[in-house]
Amino acid sequence: MTGDIGIGIHDLSFATTEFVLPHTALAEYNGTDIGKYHVGIGQQSMSVPAADEDIVTMGATAAAPLIARHGADRIRTVVFATESSIDQAKSAGVYVHSLLGLPPATRVVELKQACYGATAALQFAIGLVHRDPAQQVLVIASDVSKYDLDSPGEATQGAAAVAMLVGADPALVRIEGPSGLFTADVMDFWRPNYRDTALVDGQESITAYLQAVEGTWKDYTEQGGRSFDGFGAFCYHQPFTKMAYKAHRHLLNFCGYVTDEAQIARAIGRTTAYNRVVGNSYTASVYLALAALLDEAEDLSGQSIGFLSYGSGSVAEFFAGTVVPGYREHLRTEAHREAIERRRPVDYAGYRELHERTCPADGGEHSTPAQTTGPFRLAGIRDHKRIYERRPEGRTVA
Ligand code: COA
Repeated sequence: MTGDIGIGIHDLSFATTEFVLPHTALAEYNGTDIGKYHVGIGQQSMSVPAADEDIVTMGATAAAPLIARHGADRIRTVVFATESSIDQAKSAGVYVHSLLGLPPATRVVELKQACYGATAALQFAIGLVHRDPAQQVLVIASDVSKYDLDSPGEATQGAAAVAMLVGADPALVRIEGPSGLFTADVMDFWRPNYRDTALVDGQESITAYLQAVEGTWKDYTEQGGRSFDGFGAFCYHQPFTKMAYKAHRHLLNFCGYVTDEAQIARAIGRTTAYNRVVGNSYTASVYLALAALLDEAEDLSGQSIGFLSYGSGSVAEFFAGTVVPGYREHLRTEAHREAIERRRPVDYAGYRELHERTCPADGGEHSTPAQTTGPFRLAGIRDHKRIYERRPEGRTVA
């Protein structure tokens, strides 16, 4: 039984891309007042994948330090959540499984529901661990957020992967039982199979997100969840960081509280530190908010965090986690800051060229320019097969 020890996030690591485009470069190109980006949507820069990076290389880079620290002996399941899938049939997680040398006795699967998928993965992982507390589940959320050039969504692009080791007696965050759920059939953001870039009705997506905040909270309280006052912090899905402020203000109003902007800023500010400079990472976004909160905040031991996971289309979930005393010894703060600081600035023309690259579909042999300096890269495509490689010199910190 796991009743006493709990189940949750034992370790968490994130990775992002080789390149970064500052919003000042985008604003200079399209003539937008930089205040709209820095203040209006709350974004400073966006991670831009190199030609030889994708959801697999980022996912493997995020997960490798977990394997280096804990080994793979207890991992029998890998769940890979993504919106930006690279194959209609094969799970991106199988490539990661191979790159990390995980044991053959593993089940690997990919999950999809826009930006919500990683929360489904986390909940499914908890179910598996509940059945056998000796097992751990590797949850990977990895996405490249891509909108059309010169569209309103362009400023909210980004890319990152978060890897979480889910198990019994976790070192970081215990996930609590009650969840508030909400599904509505809405066309706020979608990406038909024939498109590389997402289609979005921006204002509709904000409205749908806020409706989901209400819907999940209502269900969460009906399921016997904590009262609003029982939370020490809140992590929201952040398609752009201002959305977290909108969502928290909305929840406060819905719960009948008078909203105080300074108080909202205090509650949300620390959770935006990574998303603000990485941009939208879809499935990874809410867990990047958690990473930032744990890395930035004073000691949160014993406090409850409210999580709001939203995936357009739409499915959302509100749930709670309790921060485990002693968690700070297990954080990867230095590595997370390094992942952000190591990115190389790309100018607008360079970003546009990368954005316009398409995946060759002729079945020929195509090698990919060697741009990334990370431990894993997409070396090329041959006979419609993606070929990945691990750099021998690629260093993984446990
Ligand atoms: N200084 C400060 N703020 C400014 C500004 C300036 N010079 N110019 C505009 N703003 C503010 C606006 O007032 C607005 O703030 P508000 O939402 O609090 O009213 C904000 O910047 C955005 O301006 P807006 O005109 O709404 O921008 P937009 O038409 O380009 O759309 C998004 C913004 C986010 C809807 C668009 O980028 C988008 O579609 N993104 C992708 C979808 C998405 O992220 N959806 C979220 C839910 S999943």
